[in-house]
Amino acid sequence: MSPGIRAIVVVGARPNFMKAAPILRAMADHGGFTPLLVHTGQHYDEKMSGIFFRELDMPRPDINLGVGSASHAAQTAEILRRFEPVVLEHRPHIVLVVGDVNSTVACALVAAKLGVPVGHVEAGLRSGDRSMPEEINRLATDAIADLLLTTEPSANENLRREGHPPERVHFVGNTMIDTLLRSRERAEQSHVLARLGLETDGGASAAPYAALTLHRPSNVDCPTVLATLLGALREVGRRIPIVFPVHPRTARQLDAFGLRDRLTWLGEDQKVGPAGLFAVPPLGYLDFMKLMASGQLVLTDSGGMQEETTILGVPCLTLRENTERPVTIERGTNTLIGRDPDLLVRKSLEAIDAPPSPPPPPPLWDGGAAARIVAILAERFASTAAEEA
Ligand code: UD1
Repeated sequence: MSPGIRAIVVVGARPNFMKAAPILRAMADHGGFTPLLVHTGQHYDEKMSGIFFRELDMPRPDINLGVGSASHAAQTAEILRRFEPVVLEHRPHIVLVVGDVNSTVACALVAAKLGVPVGHVEAGLRSGDRSMPEEINRLATDAIADLLLTTEPSANENLRREGHPPERVHFVGNTMIDTLLRSRERAEQSHVLARLGLETDGGASAAPYAALTLHRPSNVDCPTVLATLLGALREVGRRIPIVFPVHPRTARQLDAFGLRDRLTWLGEDQKVGPAGLFAVPPLGYLDFMKLMASGQLVLTDSGGMQEETTILGVPCLTLRENTERPVTIERGTNTLIGRDPDLLVRKSLEAIDAPPSPPPPPPLWDGGAAARIVAILAERFASTAAEEA
């Protein structure tokens, strides 16, 4: 690497890309960094990975470790094995990891063992539910990170309670929201609603619909749970159509459990009907933003979508018992509904009939999080980098 602060930025899975993109941009704007973008290859499909690099104006990864899918242990082990030589060769001042996926914890561990400082973007979030693989990843990553970069007040409080030294914790805001705010106008131009037949008034407005995603093991790995959820969703679908971009692991489970025919699978030019549960392939970032922003309701078990709907002002029903993002509940757009089918139907109909008014954004979800992170890194590492030059 050439002079400046040598920073390795790690991405691996779909929710990482929108968190890392603004950091890379802020490093380029600052001018004092030599970033190296490493993609572990945890997600590898065009639809789960490739399209995001183009839509988010991200540079192509400098290195792709190509690990692909495997069991948690095998995937994590493969990332450890393949990332170590990268750190040894490039001798970064900092390794920056984002979010809570297997790539996050694996790359943090490699760096920490080699004595390289680790920055964790989205540190301190806690669901309190250790049956979630992501919760283990969060706890383990924060335990070894040197810079804990947080998105919401609950994270600061969690880290304080766990005894992390306060000088390691920096409340910077939410880089995923940086991306959302920057992309809103372009997402507005997306043709996804026209493609799905959801436009009305010659494109001036959207027909009522709900957007759905589901991929957590707790919802999609047990046939009875998944079948019960689909039954409740079909019930809501009688009132307004539900558009469901299906995650690859969910598609696999629907096939394995013989549940495929509970959904209407739309082909290329097929349109959403007036009622029903409509499956479509995973969407790119801009199409998905438009789909979430223009609907009546979002139903999900994702972490990030709880945050995005808070800024979009769209009611979100989260099909989980807990959330590591309590600020989204406090703001009033997000409601935890667990896996209770009756509650799912009742709360969906309530949200359709009486949507909450859009809340003020959580503190520091203002589009400036990445710039704050880069300023912190510059202050911490600029003199070391200059001494070496
Ligand atoms: C991972 C993250 C999860 C995140 C989610 C977003 C962990 C522990 N989990 O879960 O936190 O919310 O990504 O998508 O890191 N697959 C493909 N193509 C791809 C990627 C995956 O077909 O490009 C399929 C494979 O069959 C794979 C399965 O999806 O076995 C699961 O992928 P994996 O990365 O292991 O976990 P996710 O469930 O996607």
